[in-house]
Amino acid sequence: MTDTISRRSFIGSTVAAGAVAGSFSILNAHAQAGGKKFKAALIGCGGRGNGAAQNFNEAAKMLGVDVTWVGAADWFEASAKNFGTKFAVPADKCFWGGDAYRKIMAGDADIVLIATAPNFRPLHVEAAVEAGKHIFMEKPVAVDPPGARRIIAAGEIAKKKGLSIVAGTQRRHQKNYLESAHRIHEGEMGKILNGQVYWLGSVPWVRPRKPEQSDADYLVKNWVNWAMMSGDHICEQHVHNIDVASWFIGRNPLSANGFGGRSRRESGDQFDVFSVDFDYGEGCHVHSMCRQNKGCYSRVGEAFAGTEGHYDGRVKSHSGTAIAAPEFMSGNPYAIEHFHLIKSIIDGKPLNEAETVAHATMAAIMGRISAYTGQIVRWSDVMLNEKSRFYNDAVTPSAEDFELGNIVAPEDNVCPIPPG
Ligand SMILES: NC(=O)c1ccc[n+]([C@@H]2O[C@H](COP(=O)([O-])OP(=O)(O)OC[C@H]3O[C@@H](n4cnc5c(N)ncnc54)[C@H](O)[C@@H]3O)[C@@H](O)[C@H]2O)c1
Repeated sequence: MTDTISRRSFIGSTVAAGAVAGSFSILNAHAQAGGKKFKAALIGCGGRGNGAAQNFNEAAKMLGVDVTWVGAADWFEASAKNFGTKFAVPADKCFWGGDAYRKIMAGDADIVLIATAPNFRPLHVEAAVEAGKHIFMEKPVAVDPPGARRIIAAGEIAKKKGLSIVAGTQRRHQKNYLESAHRIHEGEMGKILNGQVYWLGSVPWVRPRKPEQSDADYLVKNWVNWAMMSGDHICEQHVHNIDVASWFIGRNPLSANGFGGRSRRESGDQFDVFSVDFDYGEGCHVHSMCRQNKGCYSRVGEAFAGTEGHYDGRVKSHSGTAIAAPEFMSGNPYAIEHFHLIKSIIDGKPLNEAETVAHATMAAIMGRISAYTGQIVRWSDVMLNEKSRFYNDAVTPSAEDFELGNIVAPEDNVCPIPPG
């Protein structure tokens, strides 16, 4: 693995996805795929899992493909059973507990949708690849550097097995983003010199501890407030915008140098705010800022300045010369990502987004580690240099600990402080 990959190879996967998006009509796709049958299963039957399953059904309908839901797995019995009732999963194929995912892997699903808390992603994706399943996996795909590298490795095995892996970074399937990426990569705004990426919003939820809950149940329920479960919100939410920066610029950041802090959160151990300078090399820096504080200015998006134009939701050439983009599929990107997934399987041309989403996740993790430690974190530290203190910087408890039942929840409202 190289520190910076070549622009051509980096953009290649995007162009391939774009070609999938742009080069056919839905009617043709329907004619080719119509009548095909898929067996699907869901691991992580929460808000997004239910939404992703619905989106999968919508995509299958567009393609005329029949879907049978043959399995549901969740940490909690009620969540697995509720999904089972809604999606007609046989009662004896609804599983719960730390090893529920294994029962899905042993079943006959062709494809698994994985939408648990992010810390479980590498373990579950490895098991799905091992079991020969096609995969839709929600972002982020890891919470620490070893986890992101595990996803890359699983993605490589999936390639050899001809399996498709699509990630929940839906902007990569969204018409306006695909058009902008195409126009930027074709040079409409020249070379990108700098940018800003934002996720400024509020804490998504707090699910306070109940007296009857075990430590494990509490952490799984309230995962969005715990860094070892979510990666912290720079990873859990802001990964979308960091992904766009790396996609548009055409390479991964060389380093992250950031800070952050906490003053208002009411639960867990995460920061309220992060401010990170991502150095993309060649003089290009991107300022990433994310905040979860209600009542403050909200903004989610990206902006870039180039030698011959700028981007702020739309590409603008300073010379006024616009580059035409192919006709990308329009509609709900949450359904289109599944459309691309199903179509890639039917066409026998596997789409594999494991590496791109793992890279974006890794960049976000670098930002978090930098803010927590007060140190600069280099791409080489987390990807290449086994002697770096950050290379094996793994969170605890791990996904494996949850399955074994070795969980002691840390104290609420204690967050990292960079050492003096
Ligand atoms: N792409 C997007 O725009 C988008 C939007 C929202 C959420 N997400 C992502 O989707 C994922 C899920 O988020 P959510 O909002 O649905 O959270 P949620 O808490 O509503 O759902 C997560 C579900 O996973 C279950 N679960 C947790 N650990 C499990 C395990 N080991 N085995 C089986 N089930 C387990 C939980 O019990 C819960 O039902 C997260 O990674 C989140 O970042 C993506």
